Amino acid sequence: MNENTRHTNEAALITGGSRGIGAAIAVRLAEEGLDVALTYERDEEAAAKVVEAVEERGRRGLALRADAADADAVTGAVDRVAAEFGRLDVLVNNAALFPFGPFDEPTVEEIDRVLAINVRAPFLAARAAVRHMDGDGRIITVGSNVAVRVPFGGLTLYTLSKSALAGMTRGLARDLGPRGITVAQVDPGPTDTDANPADGPNADGIRSLVPLGRFARPEEIAGTVAHLVGPGGRFITGTVIGVDGGINA
Ligand SMILES: NC(=O)c1ccc[n+]([C@@H]2O[C@H](COP(=O)([O-])OP(=O)(O)OC[C@H]3O[C@@H](n4cnc5c(N)ncnc54)[C@H](OP(=O)(O)O)[C@@H]3O)[C@@H](O)[C@H]2O)c1
Repeated sequence: MNENTRHTNEAALITGGSRGIGAAIAVRLAEEGLDVALTYERDEEAAAKVVEAVEERGRRGLALRADAADADAVTGAVDRVAAEFGRLDVLVNNAALFPFGPFDEPTVEEIDRVLAINVRAPFLAARAAVRHMDGDGRIITVGSNVAVRVPFGGLTLYTLSKSALAGMTRGLARDLGPRGITVAQVDPGPTDTDANPADGPNADGIRSLVPLGRFARPEEIAGTVAHLVGPGGRFITGTVIGVDGGINA
C-alpha cells in the first residue's frame, strides 16, 4: 500500500448502515473505493437501496439483517462479511438506539436491550473484526456529543450507554496498537436523521444550543469517518473527535 493512499479492494462493515448516518458512511466509503457491507435490523428495503448506491459507485455491497441485541448475530455478521469479501479492513460501529424520556420509566428489559445494542455489540463486533484484520485495520465507533456533556434532561440511559464507548476506544487503542490497528471515535452532534429530525418537535430547542445554529447532515459525519479510515487517520488512535457544531463548547 502506498503511504498516501489506501482502499484498493479493501472492505468495510458498517453496523446500522441502512439509514441516517450509517447509510451516509456506507456511500462515502464506497466513494473512497472500499467494498461495503452493512447490517440492519428491520428496514430491508432501505438496506437494499444503500447496497444499490454502493454498487453504483463500482464497489461490492452487501446487506445483512443482524439485530445488534443478538450477540451471535453480531459476530456472525462480521465473520460472514470477511468470508464474502475475503477480507475485513474497517469496522464502523454505528447502530444504536436513542432512548429519550424520564430516566425512571424504562423496564429492566428495556435497559438491557439499550446496553446490548449500544455497548455490548460494538465490543463484540470489534473483537470479532480484529480476528480478520491484519496491519492497518481501522475500528471507528460512533458515539454522541451527549457522552461528554448532557445539554438537557431525559438523556440519562442514552448518555450512560454512549459514554461507555470512549472507554472502549481508549482501551482498544492500547490493546490493538501493537498490531497496527487504530481505534477512534466520532461523536456527532445533532444530525438530521429519522432518529433526530431537523424538523422534529424539539428541533428548535436543540438548534439553539449549537453555536453553528443548525443540525449536521449525515454526510458531514461521514466525511470525518472517511478521513479516519483514509491515510490521514493512520496515526489517530485512542481519540474521540466531536463533529458537533460546537454544542459542547
Ligand atoms: N442523529 C443524531 O442526532 C445523532 C447524534 C449523536 C449521535 N448519533 C449516533 O449516530 C448513530 C446513527 O444514528 P442515526 O441518527 O443515523 O440513527 P437512525 O436514523 O435511527 O438509524 C439507525 C440505523 O441503525 C439500525 N439499527 C437500529 N437498531 C438496530 C439493531 N438492533 N441492530 C442492527 N441495526 C440496528 C437501523 O436499521 P433499521 O432501520 O433496520 O432498524 C438504521 O440503519 C447512532 O450511534 C447514534 O447514537 C446520532
